[in-house]
Formats: sequence, structure tokens, C-alpha cells
Amino acid sequence: MHSEIKEILISEEEIQAKCKEIGAQLTEEYEGKFPLAIGVLKGAMPFMGDLLKRVETHLEMDFMDVSSYEGMRSSGEVKIEKDLNTQVEGRDLLIIEDIIDSGLTLSYLVDLFKYRKAKSIKIVTLLDKPTGRTSHIKADIIGFEVPDEFVVGYGLDYDEKYRNLPYIGVLKPEVYGG
Ligand code: XMP
Ligand code: MG
Repeated sequence: MHSEIKEILISEEEIQAKCKEIGAQLTEEYEGKFPLAIGVLKGAMPFMGDLLKRVETHLEMDFMDVSSYEGMRSSGEVKIEKDLNTQVEGRDLLIIEDIIDSGLTLSYLVDLFKYRKAKSIKIVTLLDKPTGRTSHIKADIIGFEVPDEFVVGYGLDYDEKYRNLPYIGVLKPEVYGG
């Protein structure tokens, strides 16, 4: 599988160091609170696990599955595949994402949680691809900025593959059939 990767953009060590750094920041920010950490499936799963291990306050976890993507292009629509099991009214929410590209997924989620009367909403994303943005959404905490390239690994997939890589990389063009 690793032979299908053209280039490693962010190494396993860099990702783990960043989780430690952001984890310390979140520990301070949520001290004495009981935030609800919301992982956006499936991509945020590895980041959520590594990040939250580094947060030293009590927190609750839940998951949401939304789809806006088919293949390599956003379909422009967001659909709830799996909703939360937790009430968000009056809660401090921490949305955890793998990547913000167009920002469509997150602006949909933020609007939804505002409508459901969350007390506060923070967004933490491992990756930010600012060149793809078509909505005005901005993350509160960003791990790394990535160029306008399709990236895989550490939760991010191409046709459901590569999510289990421990790093972020770019695929060789022949893998896309190019
Ligand atoms: P939007 O455009 O709504 O997209 O901000 C967020 C979701 O799109 C997926 N996405 C990617 N997936 N490599 C991937 O594997 C990429 O380069 C990429 N860019 C966007 C991802 O699922 C994210 O949650
Ligand atoms: Mg995703």
C-alpha cells in the first residue's frame, strides 16, 4: 500500500506532536467544563482518538456521519447519515474534522448545532485546504495547512482506502487510473 504513495506531506511524528500541542490547548480551554466532542465520521476517527488522549479534562464523545463528497469532488449537498445520540442544547461543543475543503460540511453542522441551541461551538480540524473554500467557515484550531491536492491517510480515503495510513500523503497518479 505504501508503494502507492507518491509523497508524504505530514509525517506520523509531526501529527502526534501536533495532537499533543492542541490537546494541551484544549485542556486549558475546557478546564472545569464538560464539553461534547463530536467526531465527523469517518475521516476524523484517527485524529479524534489521538487528540482526545491528550486532553486532560472530562469530556463526552459522540459521532455524526454526514456526506457531501462522492469520489474526489464535492456533490454540493450535505446529508445526515447518522445523527448524534446526545442533546446539544446548552452544551459546549467541540467539532472534530479531518479536513476543511469547501467548508460546506462544517457550515451545515454549525448552523444545525446553533439551531439546536448549543452554548458554544468550536471547530478543530487536522487539515485546512484554504484554496477550496466556497463558504465563509473558519476553524478555531487548525493542525496543518495543505496545498490544493487530494490527500489521503490518517482518516482520509480514496474510495474507502488509505484511512489506516499513519501519515498524510499524496497518491501516485496511476492509482487514480491516470
Ligand atoms: P468540505 O468541502 O465540505 O469537505 O469542506 C469536507 C470533507 O471532504 C472530504 N475531503 C477530502 N477527502 N482527501 C480526502 O480524502 C482530500 O483531499 C479531501 N478534501 C476534502 C473529507 O471527507 C472532508 O471531511
Ligand atoms: Mg470527512
